[in-house]
Amino acid sequence: MKRILLLIGSVAALGAADAAMIERGKAEEKRSCGGCHGVRIIRTQRLSRLNWERELDKMARWGTEIKDREAILEYLVATQGDDKPQPPPEKSGDGTK
Ligand code: HEC
Repeated sequence: MKRILLLIGSVAALGAADAAMIERGKAEEKRSCGGCHGVRIIRTQRLSRLNWERELDKMARWGTEIKDREAILEYLVATQGDDKPQPPPEKSGDGTK
């Protein structure tokens, strides 16, 4: 019984840690990704973990200073993984298509 309670406790703690990690990742995106382009170019992507890693490597090669890479990776995978629904198509300026 004690073991089960311990297990439940650690699963709950893991959930909280994940949420904290996602928040950290969001903050890291805000801090390090806005210098060269808007977030829309990020929001429209749906990538696997491996491809988000490659994307972060590419941005780093282009001069992005990423301090909290672990958190931003978890954030991008959790919110824009390739298992997430595609974003709606971009609308033209006058909203007719
Ligand atoms: C030093 C400038 C710079 C910073 C900072 C930067 N990027 Fe980029 N990023 C670029 C350029 C240049 C492109 C290509 C833009 C284009 O095609 O219009 C790009 C494009 C992208 C794309 C579109 C796919 C692609 O590879 O062309 C994604 C996704 C992306 N960036 C994510 C990020 C994320 C996440 C961060 C923060 C960790 C970030 N970028 C920070 C320069 C930067």
